[in-house]
Amino acid sequence: MDLQLKEKVVVITGGGQGIGAAIAETCAQEGAVPVIVNRDLAEAHHLAQRLRGEGSACELITIELRTPESCRAAVDEILRRCGRIDALVNNAGENDKVGLEAGNPEEFRQSVERNLWHYYSMTHYSLPALKATRGAVVNIASKTAMTGQGGTSGYAAAKGAQLALTREWAVELLPYAIRVNAVVPAEVMTPLYRSWLARFPNPDEKLQSIIQRIPLGKRMTAPEEIAAAVVFLLSPRSGHTTGQHVFVDGGYVHLDRTL
Ligand SMILES: NC(=O)c1ccc[n+]([C@@H]2O[C@H](COP(=O)([O-])OP(=O)(O)OC[C@H]3O[C@@H](n4cnc5c(N)ncnc54)[C@H](O)[C@@H]3O)[C@@H](O)[C@H]2O)c1
Repeated sequence: MDLQLKEKVVVITGGGQGIGAAIAETCAQEGAVPVIVNRDLAEAHHLAQRLRGEGSACELITIELRTPESCRAAVDEILRRCGRIDALVNNAGENDKVGLEAGNPEEFRQSVERNLWHYYSMTHYSLPALKATRGAVVNIASKTAMTGQGGTSGYAAAKGAQLALTREWAVELLPYAIRVNAVVPAEVMTPLYRSWLARFPNPDEKLQSIIQRIPLGKRMTAPEEIAAAVVFLLSPRSGHTTGQHVFVDGGYVHLDRTL
């Protein structure tokens, strides 16, 4: 199936590694122009260089998306370089373990700010460009919004808000034919996931116990499987899909896990 994404400019926050990198790579395979927006990271530079070497028109914007001003600067730079935005993937995030006990109100505020604010700011500042292209937005959320995880209040609150905003923005942007969907991963091996695992006394044992509870195939989701769902949702091929929460998790959240 031709996803009709050739030469479309797709902005991916946190596109330098992990799930975001897989999305950038899949966009490049479809002939789209991935714009990787990432804090300064060697992996992001290597990825952009490799994709360019393979013929992609990939762009890399090195920026820390902590403040609304930095998000505005990122969007300005994308428009200066590419002249348009056809799609936005809000993906950058970190499970920073700011909990009720291991945390305090100020750390909670900062965690929500770190994980949520740039989803709003990037969408807000991209809106005029997205209106012009009748573009699409995909928010990468997390199963923690539905299941909780324990010890990560800020991250869970941000992820829940991303699911709410997906519906809210899908409604607000109906008049412009801009579609907004969310993809919800559960267990995907990425640098973020590896550093989360490393906090347990026996990471290998912990990983095996998690994998045994993933209904479909008793295996982790591959970043490429998340990317394929995201890119399909960005494509005009899913032109009548909006406001949806798509769980790409091997049945982790919704299926019986005792089998
Ligand atoms: N890996 C999983 O199992 C899993 C599960 C559920 C949800 N998710 C979500 O998927 C998304 C990607 O996660 P991942 O596992 O690929 O993470 P990752 O840490 O491996 O990659 C995230 C990238 O985003 C960048 N980044 C983070 N915050 C940034 C900021 N403020 N400004 C600029 N760059 C920033 C990081 O430098 C990194 O390159 C996150 O939103 C995460 O919550 C992941």
